[in-house]
Amino acid sequence: MNPQYIELVKSTVPVLRENGVALTSYFYNRMLTNNPELKNTFNLDHQSTGRQPRALAAAVLAYAENIENPSVLAKAIEHISTKHVSLDIQPDQYSIVGENLLHSISEVLDVPMDSDLIAAWKEAYLQLAEILINSEKQKFDNLAAKQGGWSGWRSFDITAIESNENGKTFTIKATDGNDVVGADAGQYVSVKVKVPNHELQQPQQFKFADAQANNEFKFAVKAEENGTEFSVANILLENYNVGDTVQVTAPL
Ligand code: HEM
Repeated sequence: MNPQYIELVKSTVPVLRENGVALTSYFYNRMLTNNPELKNTFNLDHQSTGRQPRALAAAVLAYAENIENPSVLAKAIEHISTKHVSLDIQPDQYSIVGENLLHSISEVLDVPMDSDLIAAWKEAYLQLAEILINSEKQKFDNLAAKQGGWSGWRSFDITAIESNENGKTFTIKATDGNDVVGADAGQYVSVKVKVPNHELQQPQQFKFADAQANNEFKFAVKAEENGTEFSVANILLENYNVGDTVQVTAPL
């Protein structure tokens, strides 16, 4: 990136940060209106709390601040790309996010889309997107190469549900009957369910309390007291039975 563009991007970070709420709410509203299929990718229960929208925009701003030295953000990149791979985020989705983010920056800063400022932000975003896409590709490849591993979503059947004092423990096995890679305690998978009364699916991560083996996974689900109708935990607890199918990504 040329020094003039770097300066332009860095000089607008404080204003964007100050207007963080406007930036993120404009961004998500615009994106989910123009690309409603992404409602199956983003957790709508998290959207309602505002936690996730802030995380994405904050990460872009943090990156822009350190644009001359992106290695500062190596830990964040590792964390974000792991989460993205667990949600099966694909390279082509970066252009959708990028376009909506640039329009939101243009709106919040009140500058035209064809200004130098937006051109500079576009370069910054593309640079960050490339770093994430490369990191994610490596992780997808590693998952697919493992014995019993896979990349993206795989269908699993619920084979047992046990109640406990905090909720229920679900046991699941791959619908295809083939091997399933093991997992360490503390690793997590994303589980995707159908939302009752909506043409929607929703993903959520569940962490394993114990190591997983024998071609099956066991994970505990606790009710979310303040969950909306999109709460994956509550949907699993209230609507899913033995024999039903969920979509699951490989443990990370
Ligand atoms: C440069 C671009 C991007 C940045 C900086 C970014 C950053 C982030 C951050 C910081 C998080 C929160 C991680 C956490 O929960 O700890 C996140 C989560 C997430 N990102 Fe991205 N992201 C980018 C692109 C994308 C794209 C292209 C998609 C797909 C459309 C996407 C989908 C998601 C989803 C679904 C989550 C989880 C949100 C939830 O809780 O539901 N992101 N991202």
